[in-house]
Amino acid sequence: MKCPARSARFAKSMLLGVAFVTIPVAALHAQDNQSRVRQGFALNPVPLNLNGKNPALVGLGSYIVNTGGCNDCHTNPAFAAGGNPYLGQPERINTAEFMAGGRLFPPSPFKSANLTPDATGKPAGLTLYQFIATLRTGHDPLDPPGALLQIMPWPAFGKKTDLDLRAIYEYLRAIPPLPDNPHPSPNP
Ligand code: HEC
Repeated sequence: MKCPARSARFAKSMLLGVAFVTIPVAALHAQDNQSRVRQGFALNPVPLNLNGKNPALVGLGSYIVNTGGCNDCHTNPAFAAGGNPYLGQPERINTAEFMAGGRLFPPSPFKSANLTPDATGKPAGLTLYQFIATLRTGHDPLDPPGALLQIMPWPAFGKKTDLDLRAIYEYLRAIPPLPDNPHPSPNP
């Protein structure tokens, strides 16, 4: 026979389950987004130009870029002299060439691109639309038809949400503009 007390306990535990699982997850989610923006600003290694930028997007973009490995390929060398964590040294990002490209990947002919803002403020010379299209499809609309980016992990990065890709773009708009890295080289 069904025990009413047990059913009541079960119903109560279900309610508590909903209260403890659903509501805190939503709250955590909101908190997590805020902490990613904060963490993004904390991790950013270069002076930012926030003029005309959306600061929350810049912070989120910094979080994605600086925890996402972009530096490993797009800053060459990735670390300043004496700041290479792979050698057990306290990490210091190479801010002098931050995101200015110039990493070679022998034996392939490919070189990582300069992602800093061009003279008109566009990261890698791409509009937001072109930037998102490039990451989604691997084809930079400014390249000849059919050309696909090689080595660049666009099949993975292109799966990010529109908001994430916009945030990456906004962050790259805010970092210091630099000419293409004058000393391209493979990973030292
Ligand atoms: C494994 C190395 C690697 C990583 C990691 C990497 N990239 Fe790249 N990226 C490249 C290379 C190499 C190219 C140039 C490819 C080519 O010319 O075919 C490139 C090209 C690009 C381009 C196209 C630029 C243009 O003008 O067409 C964009 C945008 C870009 N990367 C953004 C990023 C972002 C943002 C991240 C981090 C989320 C990132 N990349 C991480 C290697 C990498």
